Amino acid sequence: MLVVQELNQFYGGSHTLRSVSMTAERGQCTALLGRNGVGKTTLLKCLMGVLPVASGSVHFEGQDITRKSSYERSRMGIAYVPQGREIFARLTVLENLQMGMANKPAREARSIRPDIYELFPVLKDMLQRRGGDLSGGQQQQLAIARALVADPRMIIFDEPTEGIQPSIIKDIERVIALLRSRGDIAILLCEQYFDFARALADRFVVLSRGEVVASGSADRMDGEDVRKHLAV
Ligand SMILES: Nc1ncnc2c1ncn2[C@@H]1O[C@H](COP(=O)(O)OP(=O)(O)O)[C@@H](O)[C@H]1O
Ligand SMILES: [Mg+2]
Repeated sequence: MLVVQELNQFYGGSHTLRSVSMTAERGQCTALLGRNGVGKTTLLKCLMGVLPVASGSVHFEGQDITRKSSYERSRMGIAYVPQGREIFARLTVLENLQMGMANKPAREARSIRPDIYELFPVLKDMLQRRGGDLSGGQQQQLAIARALVADPRMIIFDEPTEGIQPSIIKDIERVIALLRSRGDIAILLCEQYFDFARALADRFVVLSRGEVVASGSADRMDGEDVRKHLAV
């Protein structure tokens, strides 16, 4: 569904992504692993069109999207749950969810799909609260819900467990597992929390200093060649 070929990206003179190639398939969860600072977020931003690439290509469902804007990518069905959540702190929960539907015709964008509240019951009671008043875990759930209201065909998570309390991590794991079981959505899960990624992944890709250094099916994730590239 997603095919990344030979992607290169620079911040000024520093070569941040080095000829990165990878894929993500429909109905599967692909884990993107690697220590702090290896280029995971940079790669995801390039996939979303938030950052330009120097060379290489990104194809989504057979279409070359390398030069498309993030708005166009979102309309094509790619949703993004950014690192640090990036909730609109001064907007209400409901308004944050409506922002997630900005790519839809106004008529459709008025009401929130009821299954969103089944996935995240806590949000239903908080629709008029400001995003900034929610706890970190609630904000993460809101960021995921905001991505899901767009009815994505692919969803990209950037470290969804970072700074989140264990009980909410479990809730988030259940939601991602449910999305995976639907079979019609491609999930790209960037994580440093190995056990969380291990529980959900079908396949994995490991980045180190901007390069893909290992990849394969999830049953190979526990190997020493993978572990040595992850957090201490
Ligand atoms: N906006 C930026 N300008 C310059 N360098 C950056 C910027 N963002 C990230 N970097 C650097 O690029 C490298 C990769 O960062 P990042 O993609 O955030 O890594 P990760 O998500 O794997 O922790 C790091 O060395 C980081 O310091
Ligand atoms: Mg990051």
